[in-house]
Amino acid sequence: MGEGVGYAKTILFGEHFVVQGSHAIGASLSKEFSVKITPSEKLSLNIETGQIVLDASRAILDSFSLPENYFIEAETGIPSGAGMGWSAAYSVALARAAAAEKGARLDWKEIAKHAYEGEKVFHGNPSGIDNTLASRKGAILFKRGEEPIPINLKVPLNLVIAYTGKTGYTKELVSGVARVKEEKPEAFADLMREVEAIVVEARTCLREGNLGRLGVLMDKNQECLRQVGVSSPELEELISMFKDEGALGAKLTGSGGGGCAIALVRSKNDTSAILQRIGNKYLIFEAQIG
Ligand code: MEV
Repeated sequence: MGEGVGYAKTILFGEHFVVQGSHAIGASLSKEFSVKITPSEKLSLNIETGQIVLDASRAILDSFSLPENYFIEAETGIPSGAGMGWSAAYSVALARAAAAEKGARLDWKEIAKHAYEGEKVFHGNPSGIDNTLASRKGAILFKRGEEPIPINLKVPLNLVIAYTGKTGYTKELVSGVARVKEEKPEAFADLMREVEAIVVEARTCLREGNLGRLGVLMDKNQECLRQVGVSSPELEELISMFKDEGALGAKLTGSGGGGCAIALVRSKNDTSAILQRIGNKYLIFEAQIG
């Protein structure tokens, strides 16, 4: 028997462009996925899921050289298809449970590597940021193929996260961005440079506690995401409501096409205006990072 947890995540800067090689910044959220595995005749879960979850589970177990079957008890409050990293948190939780079953003591980077095997099944060509964020608490700077770098925040970030109610399909959205890159290589290269500059400056702002500038950078990042076609009318409606209610900045988070939008607010008090305006229309989460 083995047990493990993984965390929900939010991407603050650089989603999609990170798949193509830029840096990105994200943080884990307090919502967790917990998984318990016990040997069984066939591979199965206690919750209703598609075949893809079983295939991803098999890939993770195989990465631990665990050919046996297990009954997987999964429990979470993370909504799926909402851009909060359901699949990554599940993959990390299962990787931790598999490590425990093997009696292996692995650090978060090693757990993230095993979880990546599941993420490949879920998403085809993931950058690896989601499973990395799901494996530890806190914020990180991430670049594909490089060691993730933890970021120490000078002041905590107060975020409002709102779910559009519409599922975002990561695999399709990531392929759509790859098509934009292929069809308009020069325009895409300009956007990559812009996003890289945004992420580099955002890291400095996080370390210095410059919330005002972070908000501006979120808006700029959202414009780049619009240009590669991953925003949606629902996300745009949420983002303009956030801005009308005084958010410092707002953008989609994760793969877009639906899913969630995030807003940065100066303090917890500023969250209440947003909650009053949209709290009865959307599923809202408040998050404090750092
Ligand atoms: C999804 O949470 C983040 C994307 O950048 C995909 C990835 O990095 O694998 C859209």
